[in-house]
Amino acid sequence: MKKILIIGSQGMLGQELVKAFKKDKNYKTIAWDRKDIDITKEKEVMKKIGFTKPDVIINAAAYNAVDKCENDKKEYALAKDVNGLAPGYLAKVAKKNKAVLVHYSTDYVFDGDFEKLISKEPQGCTHSCATCSLHENFQPEIGYREDDKPNPVNNYGKSKLLGEKEVVKNIKNYYLIRISKLFGAPALGESAKKSFFDIMLGLGKDKKEVRVVDEETSCFTYAPDLAKKTKEILDSQKPFGIYHVTNGGSCTWYEAAVELYKQASAKGGSAYGGKIKTKIIPVPGAEFPRPAKRPFYSVLVNTKLNPMRDWKEALKEYLKK
Ligand SMILES: NC(=O)c1ccc[n+]([C@@H]2O[C@H](COP(=O)([O-])OP(=O)(O)OC[C@H]3O[C@@H](n4cnc5c(N)ncnc54)[C@H](OP(=O)(O)O)[C@@H]3O)[C@@H](O)[C@H]2O)c1
Repeated sequence: MKKILIIGSQGMLGQELVKAFKKDKNYKTIAWDRKDIDITKEKEVMKKIGFTKPDVIINAAAYNAVDKCENDKKEYALAKDVNGLAPGYLAKVAKKNKAVLVHYSTDYVFDGDFEKLISKEPQGCTHSCATCSLHENFQPEIGYREDDKPNPVNNYGKSKLLGEKEVVKNIKNYYLIRISKLFGAPALGESAKKSFFDIMLGLGKDKKEVRVVDEETSCFTYAPDLAKKTKEILDSQKPFGIYHVTNGGSCTWYEAAVELYKQASAKGGSAYGGKIKTKIIPVPGAEFPRPAKRPFYSVLVNTKLNPMRDWKEALKEYLKK
């Protein structure tokens, strides 16, 4: 039996990880959240985890307040502690105890420069030739592969990239899983925030129209699907390294809102019931200036794993729940 320690167990992802592993008798699941451990305290991390001796540590704890840490120095310092340095402490304690570390990162480690992405060479071509055999039948996959070079455009992305580097520097037995736009049941802890879909459903109850940004194309990730995929990666002992795990398909926030209202309005579509009459108006990102810049286009390309189902299918399941 493997002892698995899930940190951040009350978060949106953490609670689904606990459910996924608890079902399997091959695992003894230990679930910790902030009240059990503060991952920014290196000594506490070394002592408590050293004493518990897990075979696998899954770190689903994070600082996710993207805008709050952009201009506020104290908040950015906290983001760097939780997202940047703490994964390094977890990597060190995992290595010392011969455990595997699973850690999550984000599409926000990339800059989202669409022009740069569409001019990408086929994999293996290094000389910008556009004529060698590798270009024949080449369909550029517009998005970021696991080995693409990160270049974050906001402080949250910088803090998450620091965490990636700390993991890679301190342990070999790691799975670094990048995801984007997580949705699912809200987290149970203090810092819980609603996912995009829950916010939009709330607006659909009493607004005549909503203006939604028709930019920031990326993929959604349904927390229960990600939890299952994480377990699959561990169970099948995939090679250690970086993975991109999202649901299939990509869209802007506007496109996602249109699909949400369509599904929620369909007969038997959702627990919210009734047709949503709210009009959705697409607008450019500039209409909602926010402190932190977002990547314009940050689709994560998965070249290593069986793909997960389309986000629209996952959304259907979420609405039924
Ligand atoms: N949410 C997204 O859209 C998204 C997108 C891309 C990547 N990700 C990544 O996916 C992973 C899971 O995210 P999530 O949305 O599930 O996170 P979440 O719901 O915000 O949960 C994070 C959990 O970590 C706990 N935590 C925070 N600071 C801690 C500390 N110092 N020590 C111990 N626990 C601490 C929080 O407790 P409190 O509530 O008490 O603070 C919370 O229970 C993270 O790595 C995140 O960066 C998320």
